[in-house]
Amino acid sequence: MILDVDTGIDDALALLVAVRHPDVNVRAVTCVAGNASLEQVVRNTLKVLDVAGAGDIPVAAGAPRPLLAEARHAAHVHGNDGLADLGLPESTRQIEPIHAVELLRREILASPTPVTLVPLAPMTNIALLVRMYPEALANVERIVFMGGSASVGNATAVAEFNTWHDPEAAEIVLSAGVPITMYGLDVFYSVTVAAEDITRLVAAAEPGAQLAGRLLQHIVSVKGGEVRVAGEGNGDIGDAGAVCAAIDPEGVRTVNLPVRVSLGDALTRGQTVVDHRTAGHEQEGAGDHGFNPIDVALGVDGVRYAKLFLDTITA
Ligand code: BDR
Ligand code: CA
Repeated sequence: MILDVDTGIDDALALLVAVRHPDVNVRAVTCVAGNASLEQVVRNTLKVLDVAGAGDIPVAAGAPRPLLAEARHAAHVHGNDGLADLGLPESTRQIEPIHAVELLRREILASPTPVTLVPLAPMTNIALLVRMYPEALANVERIVFMGGSASVGNATAVAEFNTWHDPEAAEIVLSAGVPITMYGLDVFYSVTVAAEDITRLVAAAEPGAQLAGRLLQHIVSVKGGEVRVAGEGNGDIGDAGAVCAAIDPEGVRTVNLPVRVSLGDALTRGQTVVDHRTAGHEQEGAGDHGFNPIDVALGVDGVRYAKLFLDTITA
């Protein structure tokens, strides 16, 4: 597995699960601007990997801004440092002296088995990979990305943050011809850790488990009014759910559907337009979407993934 992140509180949870799961070999982590500036994302990613005891995984910095749009960060959700302002110690480790796209290419091509690529951020780096080194995609088994929505948005009424931040990049990736699972807002809020489990994690002696607890505490504090997260005091694991979907695909219910990204500047920019229609005669230009359909996650077994998350974090 290779993760592309904008760490980011829930990206941090995702990193913790990925590096701790016994069936996952994280070959690399690449960073992109999104929740926070690229520089901050890199610092946060190294800190999290250090705490997780995974300091030997290669990390590289990628795109400092989207392909066309300006960067717009999300300090209101993730804290001023993008990582809940927990004051974690700075890492002393160096990142790879190459661009994220080069690290992606190197590690994808070097992998003896096809790689699962897990973008949890605006897909600027992945779009650049698609354009610069399309031959690398032959060794990508699947892209499981957090982003988009077949229903409501969060950054805007209809657009999810990652696809809204770089819609052009998302459009390039969705048309790349690789098998894709879209783990979007339709399932994002539905994997939650119960309040008592968060308290237990916070009290853990082991630093990775404790960090997960503190991050979940922050999620609960900023999402107090989020009606999509069920249960008082429960925290959703967000991006970490996409890692669960890559590890345990049976836990999501997907439907193979055509998806395009709205690239206009109007109300819908960044919206993933999912075509649910089944009756061919209703369709304007039926079968002419120009895209391969992708697997859109429309349901998730939240209990199953919450258990996978907790068991892995605390193992
Ligand atoms: C996505 O945006 C960020 O806030 C999260 O890390 C997640 O990747 C949710 O819209
Ligand atoms: Ca993210």
